[in-house]
Parts: sequence; structure tokens; C-alpha cells
Amino acid sequence: MLVAAIILRWCHIICAIAWFGGSLYRVMVLLPSVARQPGTSQRALARQFHEQQETLLITAALLVILFGILLGTVVGPLQTADMLFTWYGLTWIGALVLAGLLLTWEGFVVGRAQERFLSDDTVWQTTSARYARQRIKSWRRIITLAWGEMVGFGLILLFMVLLHYGL
Ligand code: HEM
Repeated sequence: MLVAAIILRWCHIICAIAWFGGSLYRVMVLLPSVARQPGTSQRALARQFHEQQETLLITAALLVILFGILLGTVVGPLQTADMLFTWYGLTWIGALVLAGLLLTWEGFVVGRAQERFLSDDTVWQTTSARYARQRIKSWRRIITLAWGEMVGFGLILLFMVLLHYGL
């Protein structure tokens, strides 16, 4: 059981690093750098990383949740249904719900906003200043939406610290 717990914890943490680290890198480095490129190269660049980024973040998130469930139940203290109503159980449920919300935010809000922006030919075809301003506005909106995820990550990490102390 100890070996299983160690392996599961390792898998959970490495996937969490990929999910959180990938999101942080995107919002702090990738998106601001792409937004500063000339209009013509922005779209091609953003299209290239967009799909791969979504695959990485969503796969990592699903694995974090899966390993988190196994950590709490199979090798953790949540062996019976009434344990769900202890502090540990409630914190664990809170983490699960927050992770689900984060995943939904990523897939349906941030990802969709990026997709819509990149496939809107009008805003990309023209070289007029009006559309250049519109592109800047759209990048700002996407970056702000992606920053929203950081608040969720902060909260989940707090829950992880509480779980460590059995709360
Ligand atoms: C961004 C998401 C997450 C991150 C960054 C994260 C990170 C971590 C870290 C670093 C630990 C090790 C804590 C320690 O032992 O001191 C941990 C443990 C754990 N995590 Fe997560 N986690 C995330 C999401 C989740 C979710 C969604 C669940 C619930 C389904 C979960 C359930 C657990 C459990 C049960 C443990 C073991 C706690 C214990 O009993 O010591 N985690 N997590």
C-alpha cells in the first residue's frame, strides 16, 4: 500500500506541475509574447501552439483529477461514505469541484475565446489600425480570462496543504 501511495502521489504531483506550470507559462510568457508579434505572424504562431496547448492542459488536468480521486479513496482515508463528511472529505470534495470548474473554464471559456479569435478572418485579413486595436483588445481579454484560472489554482493548492494536515 505504501508503494502504491508513493507512486500515486508522484503521478498526481507531476501531472499537477504540467497543468499548473503549463497554464502559468502560457499566461505569463506565451500569450504576451505572441500578442507583441506583428499582426501577420501572430495568427500562425498562436494557431500552432493553441491545439497542442489545449491537449496538454486538458490531459494533465484529467490525470490530476483521476490520481487525486485514487489518492483520497484507494490509498487515503476516504474508505467509507461517511468519511466524506469529515474536514478531510469536505476539503477533498472542494478540490474536486474546483478542479472541475477550472477544467470547464479552460475548455469552454479560455479555449473557445482563443478559437473564436483565431478563426475570425475579418480581424486578421486587414491591416487597418482599427483592426490592430481590436486584436490587442482580444489578446487582453484572453489573457485576463486565463489569469482567472490562477485564482483557482491558488485555492486548490491551499486545499492540498490542508489535506496534508488531515483537514
Ligand atoms: C491544480 C490542481 C492540483 C494540484 C497543483 C495538486 C497538488 C498536490 C500536491 C503538491 C500534493 C502533495 C501534498 C502533500 O503531500 O504535502 C497533493 C496531494 C493530494 N491531492 Fe492534489 N493537487 C491538485 C488537484 C487535486 C484534486 C482535484 C484532488 C481531488 C480529487 C486532489 C487530491 C489530493 C489528495 C487526496 C492528496 C493527498 C493528500 C494527503 O492525504 O496527504 N488534488 N496534491
